[in-house]
Amino acid sequence: MSSPKLFAPGPVDVSPETFAAMSHTMIGHRGKDFEELYASLQPGLQAIFGTERPVFISTSSAWGVMEGALKNLVRKKVLCLCCGAFSDKWLDVARKMGYEADSIQVEWGEAIDPAAVKAKLEEGGFDTVTFIHSETSTGVLNDLEGVAKVVKSFPDTMLIVDTVSSLSTVPINMDAIGADVILAGVQKAFALPPGLALFAVSEAGMARAKEIPNRGYYFDFFEFAKNAEKNNTPSTPSISILFGLQYMLGEIEKEGLENRFARHAKTNAMIHAWGARHGFELFAPEGRRSTALTCFATPEDFDLSTFIKDLKSKYNFLINGGYGKIKGSTFRISNMGNETEATMQELIDAMDDVLG
Ligand SMILES: Cc1ncc(COP(=O)(O)O)c(C=O)c1O
Repeated sequence: MSSPKLFAPGPVDVSPETFAAMSHTMIGHRGKDFEELYASLQPGLQAIFGTERPVFISTSSAWGVMEGALKNLVRKKVLCLCCGAFSDKWLDVARKMGYEADSIQVEWGEAIDPAAVKAKLEEGGFDTVTFIHSETSTGVLNDLEGVAKVVKSFPDTMLIVDTVSSLSTVPINMDAIGADVILAGVQKAFALPPGLALFAVSEAGMARAKEIPNRGYYFDFFEFAKNAEKNNTPSTPSISILFGLQYMLGEIEKEGLENRFARHAKTNAMIHAWGARHGFELFAPEGRRSTALTCFATPEDFDLSTFIKDLKSKYNFLINGGYGKIKGSTFRISNMGNETEATMQELIDAMDDVLG
């Protein structure tokens, strides 16, 4: 049997058409062909990010830019907004990098409260905030506009936003909300193989970076900016994935962003309805749920590992049995990327059959 079709929240399924686009003959990255490829990506990426700033392309996973953004922006003390495995880890990473770091910690499955962010920032001393829009481990979609509004009311405080599992599934308006960095990887809703991270930096973010010494090279914002002016990247990028990205941006343009958002909302609602039929409770609170993936609490008497195993052996579909400290006590199903009502229905029929 071939590898299972992925309904886990990243990497997600990659279409044969995308792989075909990626099999383009290799080109050198310091030539005209590459400049054209790079330039062709900008309008689509800027529309998705909601920015007029250049969108930089890093050959790394999202963590590279998550760490890099700290390295470029933190003067001394960072506030990490923690509500799940990835946001908790960002706090850990900030400390590992030697920064003074504090956190707002909410129970996994809860959302970050902008009022709590305001109260914490009022304590003073913070120059940067890290924030995860869609906490992939819990299925919570945090209040991006609310948190950005609070952080922006504190002058000279940078806001770094991870939109790893939300970008292109819901509107992101980087310029309007005043985020200083928006970042994501391509293995989630862009439905590409892992290996690229995308990010944009505000003017204020670049001004802050200018005063930070020891930014290194690989993730130095100024290296990205300098090269972007020539439609290029600081170092050799994963050119094959860039061809895949060019293909996917074409698909996204054809579909239209609004339709893409609506499709994710619809296919996500199908999974919610499936769970409700079987008595599975959603782990994230009403009103703050991701539309790209669903996290269910595993009922006490439910044999999750057999369910996942049978779904795979009988239908070759892969869902995910929870992440971090809620592994086993939750499970997650992704509808990100290219999934349609028809493909989600196939999964639902298969899950119904396996449940008996
Ligand atoms: C919200 C979030 N942030 C960060 C990451 C880390 O991404 P990567 O593994 O691409 O570095 C993930 C991965 O699933 C994620 O879901």
